[in-house]
Amino acid sequence: MSYSFFMPTVNLMGAGCVKEVGNRARTLGAKKALIVTDKDLSKLGLADMIAGLLKEADVKSVIFDGAIPNPTDLNVADGEKIYKENKCDIIVSLGGGSSHDCAKGIGLVIGNGGNIRDFAGVDKSSKPMPPMVAVNTTSGTASEITRFCIITNTDTKVKMAIVDWRVTPQVSINDPEIMAKMPRGLTAATGMDALTHAVEAYVSTIATPVTDACALKAIELISKYLRSAVAYGDNMEARDAMTYAQLLAGMAFNNASLGYVHAMAHQLGGFYDLPHGVCNAILLPHVQRFNLISNPQRFVDMAKAMGEKVDHLSVREGAEKALTAIQQLSADIAIPAGLTQLNVEEKDFEVMAKNAMVDACSFTNPVTAKLEDVINMFKSAM
Ligand SMILES: [Fe+2]
Repeated sequence: MSYSFFMPTVNLMGAGCVKEVGNRARTLGAKKALIVTDKDLSKLGLADMIAGLLKEADVKSVIFDGAIPNPTDLNVADGEKIYKENKCDIIVSLGGGSSHDCAKGIGLVIGNGGNIRDFAGVDKSSKPMPPMVAVNTTSGTASEITRFCIITNTDTKVKMAIVDWRVTPQVSINDPEIMAKMPRGLTAATGMDALTHAVEAYVSTIATPVTDACALKAIELISKYLRSAVAYGDNMEARDAMTYAQLLAGMAFNNASLGYVHAMAHQLGGFYDLPHGVCNAILLPHVQRFNLISNPQRFVDMAKAMGEKVDHLSVREGAEKALTAIQQLSADIAIPAGLTQLNVEEKDFEVMAKNAMVDACSFTNPVTAKLEDVINMFKSAM
């Protein structure tokens, strides 16, 4: 079997790097940018700041702030209209996963025509999208570097997993000074999303030595710094470390893909409009308990990366330490303990489990699940 490694061409890291956004857009040949963001970031003035930086580099812009959490096919259509009306030639996304995913969706339909629903699945596009620069404001989804784009179908309420190498942005920007503005709950949820990316990539059926290295370092950094980033939002050492951690976790899952945690979390997001990172954090230990028999040594590796002492333990005991360490981290940063607290209802489990089994993220889970296995994982996470 052959493997590919996908990554944006340029990735800017470190305090102050956002100031490069205009120069990078201009070197991509841009004259007018569609800035895709959400209403909150727009109100905070961040979209205007990006517009100002673009203007300094002689790139005009128009702001579309209609990306909502769990962005929909309707958001994509709205953004497409504004891009065309304003004759834009580049997309600059500003935000977390929702803004980047919405921007990718707009780019796909601008480049290929049709409706975003046509692109659910793997590599369904046939033409390139416009150039894209992704300015990240959270430390978790890594959508600024990935070929993944998750858009909710408003008719079926299913979050469509669009995996397409053409949606990879050309430039990603991760500036920890922007992350410092993130509220505590968002820092916790997005940080656990990053941990989930690393864990699912590390146990994926298509993991490679490259993705393993990225995943383990990400797990180590998240275990060491996420609590501090949540507790002291302006701790720049922790914020800086978390930008690297989420980037590494993104590099891992962008190439080794994910598993049932994401496949199931997409259903919770689509059905109940719940935050992605919180759903992942709750499901993570339960799905990994199901996965543990696939390769217990991999779980020992993760426990070690999380700082657990495992040398005196059996492989099974060491593997269990990874699960308890994940649960402890979630509890320490006030992630809800179960789906019951999110008002999830058991009557929806069968439909959500069926949808999870055909979600593109499920295909690389290390243990193949039956319908009742997926339902039981939902139940155990209540
Ligand atoms: Fe995720």
